[in-house]
Amino acid sequence: MEDLKSRILALQKISAGLEPTPSQRDNYFNEVNDYSNSFLNGLSTSGTYSPEKVRHEAFALGKEPKSLEKILRIFEEEVAGKGIKPASGGYMGYIPGGGIYASALGDYLADITNEYAGMSFASPGAVAMEHELLNWMKSLFGFPESAVGNLTSGGSIANLIALTSARDKHKIKGATIEKSVVYLSPQLHHCNLKALRIIGLEDVIIRELKLDEGSRIVASDLKQKLEEDKAAGLNPFLLIASAGTTDTGAMDPLNELGEIAEANKLWYHVDAAYGGFFILSEKRKHLFKGIEKSDSLAVDPHKGLFLPFGLGAVLVKDREAVFHSHHRSANYMQDAVENDSEINPADVSPELTKHFRALRLWLPLQLHGIKPFVACLEEKLLLTVYFRERLEEKGFALGPEPDLSVSYFWWPLSENETNFNKKLLKEIHNDGTVFFSSTNIEGCFVIRMALLAFRTKIEHVDRAVELLDKARNRLLGRL
Ligand SMILES: Cc1ncc(COP(=O)(O)O)c(C=O)c1O
Repeated sequence: MEDLKSRILALQKISAGLEPTPSQRDNYFNEVNDYSNSFLNGLSTSGTYSPEKVRHEAFALGKEPKSLEKILRIFEEEVAGKGIKPASGGYMGYIPGGGIYASALGDYLADITNEYAGMSFASPGAVAMEHELLNWMKSLFGFPESAVGNLTSGGSIANLIALTSARDKHKIKGATIEKSVVYLSPQLHHCNLKALRIIGLEDVIIRELKLDEGSRIVASDLKQKLEEDKAAGLNPFLLIASAGTTDTGAMDPLNELGEIAEANKLWYHVDAAYGGFFILSEKRKHLFKGIEKSDSLAVDPHKGLFLPFGLGAVLVKDREAVFHSHHRSANYMQDAVENDSEINPADVSPELTKHFRALRLWLPLQLHGIKPFVACLEEKLLLTVYFRERLEEKGFALGPEPDLSVSYFWWPLSENETNFNKKLLKEIHNDGTVFFSSTNIEGCFVIRMALLAFRTKIEHVDRAVELLDKARNRLLGRL
């Protein structure tokens, strides 16, 4: 026994290294805080993209501990200094995230307290906070209180949960799969197609719907395809629309689609991961009419509410459909289950243990109120209009007027247009001051501008236009 005790005490001395003293904590915190401040203060001049390669050896895990100073230097050089800098206002590629400061404080507290956010029994406060946020989202999108929801890591998992529920509600399994039909836009985010595969629906029939000139689903095409499929004895069961497509920010005609879905008993899912929170803008609210008809929707605070990456949300009206796949119990969970009076996040998601995500949204909403979020969304919409006007002045060709804050442009040429625009984008990437990504629209290479980073201001747009103008002139000079 004595020997056992002394071995334990010897180990305890070493493991105590994991618990810094109060003054060590202060030192660590101050060092990280100093670095964070210099990162944030330098954002306006530090560029948005660096194609420089990472030195993998810098991450090697040595056996001996390193000083925090050294660790922060590696972080600064190899992580923060390379690739895309999503925290920068110059980030206008893909779908920008944000990274509002108050969320980081929420994450800090979540990590310090390490609340167990998967079950109400373990952390009734964390779960109540998650429910409060989900209830707020239900009211935004016209969902009934009886709907269930979950805070996920992002849009992909939110869509996965919704599509799993659709599958279970319509009992799509076994021989039914090959006769079952899903209707969607060719512009739908690919995570939905991934989700269908993950949930065993690789062999369903996918009907891509026609799009109008603004890349929105043509509702009459859905009607026609449904009639044909029903006449052929198939089993239409799911319609997926987008409230803001990734490529061009298009809003599908949600109301018309909702009516057709209802009349044909389809599960109606709306992927609002990018565009959803634009419902807060009085000027765009009308585009969301009909979203309340959906059976489920996905929406991402780490996009439209400018949070750091790591927060999506799903809402589903039919709770039994969600529980079918996600609700399980086990002997080792019996205390937690006996005591649950609220819906447990673990019963609405593939996750059991989950990061206490609610705090990174709840804290900023409490601290700032909703007004600056709405203003920031309105600002991005106006900046998109301004950007397009400035590009047009410079002679660039523009895609159609966007519904939201994603749009595209290219330099028009009668020959080698794609090649030229690829080179133009490369020049911008090499410069690194701002960052755009690209896509293909009807087979043509175009440059995308996605304005959603909360730090994107008019000066970033002006800088981007100047850079594009100069790069275009340089390349034309070389032709
Ligand atoms: C419309 C849409 N849906 C889903 C996703 C996937 O979301 P996440 O990257 O958060 O998993 C995205 C990502 O950009 C998106 O734009």
